[in-house]
Amino acid sequence: MQNSSITKENCISRFKEIFNRGPEAYGYSPGRINLIGEHVDYQKGIVFPAAINKYIHGAAVATQEPLIKVWSSFDHERILEIKLDQLEPQRGEDSWINYIIGVIAQYMKKGAKVGGLEIVFESDLPSGSGMSSSAALESTTALLIESLFNFTLEPIERAKVCQAAEHEFAGVPCGIMDQIAVNCGTQGHALMIDCESLELTPFPIPESIAIVVADTKVKHDLADGQYTKRKLECDEACKVLGAQSLRVATLGELNKAKDMLGTTIFRRARHVISEIIRVKDFATAMEQNDPTKMGTLLAQSHESLKSDFEVSCPELDRLVQIAEKLNAIGSRMMGGGFGGSTINLVRRQNKQQFLEQIKLLHFEMTGNDIDAWAVDPVSGATTSNI
Ligand code: GLA
Repeated sequence: MQNSSITKENCISRFKEIFNRGPEAYGYSPGRINLIGEHVDYQKGIVFPAAINKYIHGAAVATQEPLIKVWSSFDHERILEIKLDQLEPQRGEDSWINYIIGVIAQYMKKGAKVGGLEIVFESDLPSGSGMSSSAALESTTALLIESLFNFTLEPIERAKVCQAAEHEFAGVPCGIMDQIAVNCGTQGHALMIDCESLELTPFPIPESIAIVVADTKVKHDLADGQYTKRKLECDEACKVLGAQSLRVATLGELNKAKDMLGTTIFRRARHVISEIIRVKDFATAMEQNDPTKMGTLLAQSHESLKSDFEVSCPELDRLVQIAEKLNAIGSRMMGGGFGGSTINLVRRQNKQQFLEQIKLLHFEMTGNDIDAWAVDPVSGATTSNI
């Protein structure tokens, strides 16, 4: 594990403090960034994420009592209890537990003999910032279950289990990008994921480029409902186009069907189809070490997400404008949208200055603080012996 502010020792001693004994299993999962390829995974598109050095760590023991007891540093530092024979999606304040019990339910469905559990989670991965804290929580839970109940899955299979948990328990019809990124990350690389074949191709991120995540610290309430809406709008476009997914549709076919699609559905589909083309162009630009081209593609991606897909918000647009003023290589909103973070590619020698200036300029413009972090691409979720 690289540069986490939390260590295995921290997590284990926290476990001892909370449950008065030592854990039997320990694991951690990174968050992720996405270079480009947003809102295309659920249309079998191509995405370009990387696992990053911010993590959710977990430690656990198996118990005789049919109870799941969870303590986490991100939930008021208290123990939450759920009966093992009542694994139903929770609503309200405690609904974050769905990411944990959803995964447990999926492993049981697959035949794992999961019993009672005591779990502690420690995290330095901010939640609600578009860096996939949900996928990291799911996958750390998965690793703990695998190691306590002897039920090992390949990383891709684990990613699918985590995605199913999110669909069925958290009620978000997400794609597979986040779960694959956090489980299959490769140090120093971004992963091109073909969401149709699930083929993964690692691309080294040039040494000269630093990745900075800037967090608006806003989360608009409409976010989840709008995610589902966008997915349904894309499905609608497929129906009209007679396509299995927007992955196989072309801009030419789309333009021909414009009248039948109507303006909104047309624009949604135009985002997806054009974004998939941008991902491929971005990979070529990165291989050729062409920062100007990479920056242009990031700007086009943001514009498309803002105008055609309508998932940006004024706070994200402002951060992208500030990054442009600060001569970033490129910047765009990242993840589901309606708040959360931007991804910024900056020249490595400008990293520190960029980190300071983006916060300062934002404060001068709005009177509000944002967070910004430089992050590095790391390996995916792992367990280690106690
Ligand atoms: C969320 C989802 C992903 C993906 C992104 C948008 O992070 O979990 O599957 O759809 O939004 O690219």
